[in-house]
Amino acid sequence: MTIERTLVLIKPDAVKRGLVGEILARYERKALRIVAMEQREVDASMADKHYHEHLDRDFYPALRSFVTSGPLVALVLEGDDAVSAVRLLNGATDGRRAEPGSIRGDWALSNRENLVHGSDSPEAAAREVGLWFPGLG
Ligand code: TYD
Ligand code: MG
Repeated sequence: MTIERTLVLIKPDAVKRGLVGEILARYERKALRIVAMEQREVDASMADKHYHEHLDRDFYPALRSFVTSGPLVALVLEGDDAVSAVRLLNGATDGRRAEPGSIRGDWALSNRENLVHGSDSPEAAAREVGLWFPGLG
C-alpha cells in the first residue's frame, strides 16, 4: 500500500454545468477520502502558480482565462496510489479522445474545458497540495 494525497480541481465548466456532485461521487465511490475541499475564485497569479510548467505554451493564455472564469472546487483526495487512481478516473486530457467511463470521457468534448485536474506525480501533488491548502501538514 502506498497511501498518497493528490490535488484535484473541479474546474469552472463543471461548476457552471452543475456536475460537481456527480464528479465527487465518482471519487468517493472509488473509496478515495476527501481530506479538504473548498470552492474558490482563482486570480491570474494563482493560475500561473498552479500551471507554472505550462506558462510558455501557446494554449496557456486561453487556459488561464478559462480557469479564472468562475468558481472552481479545489480538493485533496487520499488513498492507495491516489495520484494515478485519480488520473485514470479523470481520463485523457482531450475530452474528445478520453475513454468512455472516465469523467472527461463521459462529460467533456474539449481539450481545454475538460472538467477536472489531477496532479500528475507524487512530487507535483506535494507542490500543488501545498499551494492550494498551505494549512495541511
Ligand atoms: P496538461 O497538464 O497537459 O493536461 P492534464 O490536465 O491532463 O494534466 O494540460 C493542462 C491543461 O491545459 C489541460 O487540462 C487542458 C489545457 N490544455 C489546453 O487547453 N490545450 C492543450 O493543447 C493542452 C495539451 C492542454
Ligand atoms: Mg497536467
